[in-house]
Amino acid sequence: MRKILFASSEVHPLIKTGGLADVSASLPMTLDAHGHDIRIILPAYRQCLMALADVRTIATIKLDGFHSPINILESTLPETDIRVWLVDSPAHFDREGGAYGPSEGGDWQDNAARFALFCRAIVAVAMDLAELDWKPDVLHCNDWQTGLAPALIADQKNRPATIFTIHNMAYQGLYSRQTFEALDLPESFWTSEGLEFYDQLSFMKGGLGYADYITAVSPTYAKEICTAEYGYGLEGLLTFKHEQGQLSGILNGIDRDEWNPQTDKALAKKYTIKTVRHKKLNKQALQQYFSLPEKEEVLVLGLISRLVPQKGIDLIIDAVSRLLQAGENIQLVCLGSGEDDYEKGLRVLRAKYPDRVGVVIGYDESLAHQIEAGADVFLMPSRFEPCGLNQLYSLRYGTLPLVRNTGGLADSVVDAFGDNLKDATATGFKFEQATAEELEATILRAVTLFRHPRIWRKVVITAMEQDYSWQASSRAYEALYEKALS
Ligand code: ADP
Ligand code: GLC
Repeated sequence: MRKILFASSEVHPLIKTGGLADVSASLPMTLDAHGHDIRIILPAYRQCLMALADVRTIATIKLDGFHSPINILESTLPETDIRVWLVDSPAHFDREGGAYGPSEGGDWQDNAARFALFCRAIVAVAMDLAELDWKPDVLHCNDWQTGLAPALIADQKNRPATIFTIHNMAYQGLYSRQTFEALDLPESFWTSEGLEFYDQLSFMKGGLGYADYITAVSPTYAKEICTAEYGYGLEGLLTFKHEQGQLSGILNGIDRDEWNPQTDKALAKKYTIKTVRHKKLNKQALQQYFSLPEKEEVLVLGLISRLVPQKGIDLIIDAVSRLLQAGENIQLVCLGSGEDDYEKGLRVLRAKYPDRVGVVIGYDESLAHQIEAGADVFLMPSRFEPCGLNQLYSLRYGTLPLVRNTGGLADSVVDAFGDNLKDATATGFKFEQATAEELEATILRAVTLFRHPRIWRKVVITAMEQDYSWQASSRAYEALYEKALS
């Protein structure tokens, strides 16, 4: 049994912008079930305070570089007895809007100060300076918002072991030299071995440079970020860490209770592998929801996504336009929000093909479950994908993921092609290059296979049989914690 402090800037169901929130709940829940004493620390955003019933102040601390003392609040993760500690600085976190900005896409002006404060609070709690009478063996940080914590704690005596998990290298927390000074960080950090990155302050480098061990959220992504194409200039440092045995990839798992077609309350009709024929009732309900013709023989493509360049939304818009122009028998249903151009592109597609395309711009947990259950194919043509959770949810729901061969998508989907079909290992569709042409050709492969219901059904069943729970991956984290402690 170990004491673990798990630090994250989003935790489902308290606050979520993407998969980080899912992982920051489901991994701690699994570690808790394995008998570890795990506590989650996150900022006390307004949404979190509103979502939690019992919140009490357990400590008040003064942090370097900040005038007002801050409170540490305690509650529990809903429907669990896992303790959640909230860093309560109303000036930084108690405001209308999202975790990182007033709306999806934008950033709060004071994000550097917000997350520097968060990191200082993480360190204070991890060193028990808050006098909570609890000191972790391991501090597990996630993404750039927690990146300064491993750096700030590195030279403390009797400190916990530190793990830093990379969920996405595309977001690094880069700020000016002026901001660095305003944050009152030790001047010794301003070196290329430290936090300086081409004359900017990099929060991410705090995690990469100072944590005892680094993980990425899939084995393939751990390798990809050691190359210029995916490393954003940090590939040299990452390659070094990899060679030192300090960087590895651990595939995310999913919460198999929350994403379970047998018990999912959001579905029109629940189903299992044995009753997978009921999946078509969910398809019908989905078509109805999006006001599309309720036809069984049309291939329904689903999309649930942050609408950002990473996700290849432009490729989808191009490929699907061409396929619809050519009269292919497909429908597209989308749920997402993000950049204006993509929102507009999807709306235009909908306007042009109202009986073929359905679009909801926004965030809708229940609709996300309905799309996972009702679509035939789930589209994830990502330019890069550190892990991706939606393809894992899709497998569980027998909705074949159609993915680009990158990151966690490469590690979790087996292409329905050649031998994979013969030996019944196929679980979805894969393509290589991030072009609309390849995506289009791959959707056409799916359209063709869909005309062979027996083969299709076999692939669906193989997909549903896959076990991407946290069982194996949580053991890999436990092994890493032990290694870091030894
Ligand atoms: P990322 O973290 O890069 O956004 P993931 O596939 O790891 O990608 O996780 C995305 C998570 O966010 C999934 O749980 C997905 O269902 C959810 N999600 C994304 N967009 C929406 C939306 N518009 N409405 C509901 N859930 C969404
Ligand atoms: C990031 C990545 C996504 C991953 C998620 C959880 O948001 O974009 O691929 O699944 O983190 O690790």
